[in-house]
Amino acid sequence: MSSGLARAEELRRLLNRAAHAYYVLDAPDMEDPVYDRLYRELLDLETAQPELITPDSPTQRVGGAPAEGFESVEHRIGLLSLDNAFSLEELGAWYGRLLKVLDREPGTPLEMVGELKIDGNALALSYDHGLLVRAATRGDGERGEEITANVRTIRTVPTRLLLAHPPAWVEVRGEALIPDATFAAINAEREARGEALFANPRNACAGTLRQLDPKVVASRRLDFFAYTLHLPDDWHPGPGDPARPTTQAEALDWLQAAGFRVNPNAARLADLTAVEAFFAQWDTGRRALPYATDGVVVKLNNLRLQADAGFTQKAPRWAIALKYAAEEAPSKLLRLACQVGRTGAVTPVAEFEPVPLAGTTVSRATLHNADRLAELDLHAGDTIVVRKAGEIIPEVVRVLPELRPAGAVRLELPLVCPECGSGLVREEGEAATRCVNSSCPAILRGALRHWVSKGALDVDGLGAKLIEQLVDKGLVGSIADLYGLDGALLASLERMGAKSAENLVTALAASKAQPWHRQLYGLGIHHVGEVNAKALAKAFPSAADLATAAEGTPELISAVYGIGSEIAQSLQQWFATPANQQLLTALEQLGFSLAARAEERAASAGSDGAEAPLAGQTFVLTGTLPNLSRSQAQALIEAAGGKVSGSVSKKTSYVVAGAEAGSKLSKAEALGVAVLDEAGLQELLEP
Ligand code: IVH
Repeated sequence: MSSGLARAEELRRLLNRAAHAYYVLDAPDMEDPVYDRLYRELLDLETAQPELITPDSPTQRVGGAPAEGFESVEHRIGLLSLDNAFSLEELGAWYGRLLKVLDREPGTPLEMVGELKIDGNALALSYDHGLLVRAATRGDGERGEEITANVRTIRTVPTRLLLAHPPAWVEVRGEALIPDATFAAINAEREARGEALFANPRNACAGTLRQLDPKVVASRRLDFFAYTLHLPDDWHPGPGDPARPTTQAEALDWLQAAGFRVNPNAARLADLTAVEAFFAQWDTGRRALPYATDGVVVKLNNLRLQADAGFTQKAPRWAIALKYAAEEAPSKLLRLACQVGRTGAVTPVAEFEPVPLAGTTVSRATLHNADRLAELDLHAGDTIVVRKAGEIIPEVVRVLPELRPAGAVRLELPLVCPECGSGLVREEGEAATRCVNSSCPAILRGALRHWVSKGALDVDGLGAKLIEQLVDKGLVGSIADLYGLDGALLASLERMGAKSAENLVTALAASKAQPWHRQLYGLGIHHVGEVNAKALAKAFPSAADLATAAEGTPELISAVYGIGSEIAQSLQQWFATPANQQLLTALEQLGFSLAARAEERAASAGSDGAEAPLAGQTFVLTGTLPNLSRSQAQALIEAAGGKVSGSVSKKTSYVVAGAEAGSKLSKAEALGVAVLDEAGLQELLEP
């Protein structure tokens, strides 16, 4: 028992140190297979002796049981906000006031620290004798919501400080964020599931932090930069610990030494001229950063002087946020358009006079949904302010009512579908207004586009334009009708030739052999994205099995890992709809299996639950492997519980490289990601 305790402690220390090197320092110092073996050993120990589990165990980062709600907690030290400066003149005025409170001559240079202003969500972290005990949102600055279980999933937040003599308590503040690329992936996944999109990374981050299910938080891969440190007065460093900071620059170093990720772009700035140069440098520099920043924060470096300067009602006098001009521009609204998506969700879209924004010309922007439309109080002919930042989808930020034409009418979502004229419905608690007519041409077009898309049946040569023609001409009224199209008819359509028509007929016929999980995903059932479709297809090896469960025992569905009751409900509705039942019958008659093939069943039986040897690992395939095709390799990895991704990041577990591997291989080498050949992969598969 006591040896188990000592070993668990050692494993935690080794694993936490390796994770710190990997996530915070970006300098991995342990081979992935070694990490995995030690992790496994710790997990086994903890499973056998649950009393060995501690809150700082790396096994606790994957997210525990969902919470019922969040408790409101009082911050030990209030979280203040920052005053803003929108020009160098305002910066100068702030500096003048600062010198005045500090009783210095105008023009006296004082050293400052420039930091990037990260556009995320502030977090307050409390450590008790080095252990993370509480994480809270900013809230109103005095009280926030306690979200410790969620924050524990953020790999760059240490769960134990790397200090010999940790203080009795420490309060650390910093910014949680979602990098732009992760944000794009989250939204793509939401779009595939027909869910409302997040407007920007900050909203996605805020929404994620308030998720009741920590597992969802873990999957969203948040990041964190620490920037404020509060230490008790009586703390003294132990051997090897960083000295007690006397400046903000030292506080950042202290935080880094204690295990936090600190933004590497902070700089000591000797005077206002240096501040201005720093601000100008990052105005262009920030465009290359993988996360959003909306300005720089200028802080007086000396902590004694900070204390002397003190605070106003809401903000420190010793710091200021110098903001970049927002990437916003006014334009004139031309029309309120409505887009009907494949799930029938109606998205209001503003069409306006084209304006240049963040490097592109923009003339359409989403208004998200009916609530947002009402909130904006949009009227015909309004002058609107449009925003676009980097990869983010353009949106309407506000309207300028002072420029509104007299007697303008208020704009609302139509009561009937703009495509088919049937009445729109909005269910209680849903943000989306929907057309529920399953033969609405917009829904049909969306359903067909989805069915043939890459992750679904992957049919080449059937683009949006061709689908539009097929639906408009009444040639296709359901997914099944695609398979009755003949070459001659297709060849007679606009921009089609005999060859492309023939290829399309072949591609459609070949798509019947796609595996069951792709067929299921292709059906476009609300909330059933690629990941859920795979989990469902594994648990329910045929459409008949799934239908039986959906109708009779939805608990069986929600018991599948990662699947909630919302999805069970959506499946129940889907299978209960006569048009969908007809579709399944028609597909079956066309030769679709709507079921897992024998080898898929065997593969998923061998990779059940905790036994999956590659669970939690992400692979990237590149080049040509000697024996396995790309899709065979992918199938083997997935059958063993691993994931296959298209791009290499430092989170990638392995890159499997074959002949003529390209940039993915060099990227793996640059990031220190482990590289395997086919034999290496086979070894992992059969340990
Ligand atoms: S210092 C009293 N430093 O900006 C000091 N804040 O507009 C307050 N923020 O609530 C915070 N990056 O959420 C500080 N490097 C940085 C920051 C930063 C982003 C956020 C923070 C704060 C907000 C104020």
